[in-house]
Amino acid sequence: MSAPTASGLDGIVVAHTALSEVDGDHGQLVIRGYSVETLVERATFEDVCALLWNGVWPSAHERADVQAELAKAREDAFAMLPSLGGALGAPDCMEGLRAAVGHLRSANSAGDRVRLTGAIAVFAAAWARAQVRQSPVPPQPLLSHAADCLQMLSGTVPDPPYARALDAYLCCVVEHGMNASTFTARVVASTGSDAVSAIVAAIGALKGPLHGGAPGPVLDMLDAIGTAPHARSWLEAELTAGRRIMGMGHRIYRVRDPRAAALERAATALEGSGVPAERLLLARAVEREAERLLAGRYPDRHLRANVEFYTAVLLDGVGIPRTLFSPMFAASRVVGWCAHVDEQRTVGRLIRPASVYVGPVALGTA
Ligand code: COA
Repeated sequence: MSAPTASGLDGIVVAHTALSEVDGDHGQLVIRGYSVETLVERATFEDVCALLWNGVWPSAHERADVQAELAKAREDAFAMLPSLGGALGAPDCMEGLRAAVGHLRSANSAGDRVRLTGAIAVFAAAWARAQVRQSPVPPQPLLSHAADCLQMLSGTVPDPPYARALDAYLCCVVEHGMNASTFTARVVASTGSDAVSAIVAAIGALKGPLHGGAPGPVLDMLDAIGTAPHARSWLEAELTAGRRIMGMGHRIYRVRDPRAAALERAATALEGSGVPAERLLLARAVEREAERLLAGRYPDRHLRANVEFYTAVLLDGVGIPRTLFSPMFAASRVVGWCAHVDEQRTVGRLIRPASVYVGPVALGTA
């Protein structure tokens, strides 16, 4: 076969989608016609669920419906906890989610996406509580999804700025073109399999450090650097050792990821309360130094901060432990995954790329 291969499927178009557009050259992300900045500033998580699943910005009545459906889904997921066996006893929450979500049963697409979205939030919080030997906290149906995520973790209803900050995060990372986990979900959906299987597979893809596993290590990096004057030597040592700087670089963006800016603004809104001013100053100094060093090593790649960089600062600021950073990503991205599963079903064609055989030939024919 003489067809060219595309390592990492760079530049290969695998779908037409009405869900989002990522413009890597100009640093723009548009979701169902709205810029990510607009969604982070003006939408709630319930709004973006309605927008992605139904295609239009919801009315107040539709928003209330989504909020009630998600609240019911959280209650249903909470009721399932005793039947999950050891699933949420896994040492890594993403492993726990992968196992626990596998206990759900697919029914129909509208029910599946709400059930999956409610379940990931509840399972992640229950996993975190179990880690510190505390019993799970039941959801409160009158809270927004973001506020209830925090309430199920800490046992207390969060102050509005904290709920708003988490809401901003959930709106920011909900959908992002044909990223690895979304593609995974679409491949599974293209086989005619069910939504739960597609989301379990997507969780597996998101778990990897090159995709959704970066924000925990970003915080580890900030902790290890400690103060801005140490940034340069620490980063240089990492690069010299051949390690990647977490939270920097992106397959598509050749400028700063617009979500990094949106999350930096959301974290700045918490400055002095959830996010210590020194933490933000350090993060900005490390970002600047990492950008400078990477530009020196890879002048053609334009490696800038990605979404994970300020995710770490924001989620830490609202009191989410770093072991839950990737699960919180899943708690939002599940909405986009489900929208893609539905969209892929309308295509109705199996995704099945080709490969070039480079192994031995004609063995055993002598
Ligand atoms: N630190 C150090 N080097 C990096 C880097 C980083 N964060 N990101 C890319 N590079 C280097 C690669 O090692 C590679 O070098 P090589 O050709 O000498 O092997 C080169 O830059 C390739 O760059 P690019 O093609 O842009 O990377 P990619 O598309 O293969 O990878 C990521 C994109 C996101 C996987 C990569 O930038 C990365 O690993 N970043 C850190 C993890 C992270 O933050 N992930 C979250 C993504 S939202």
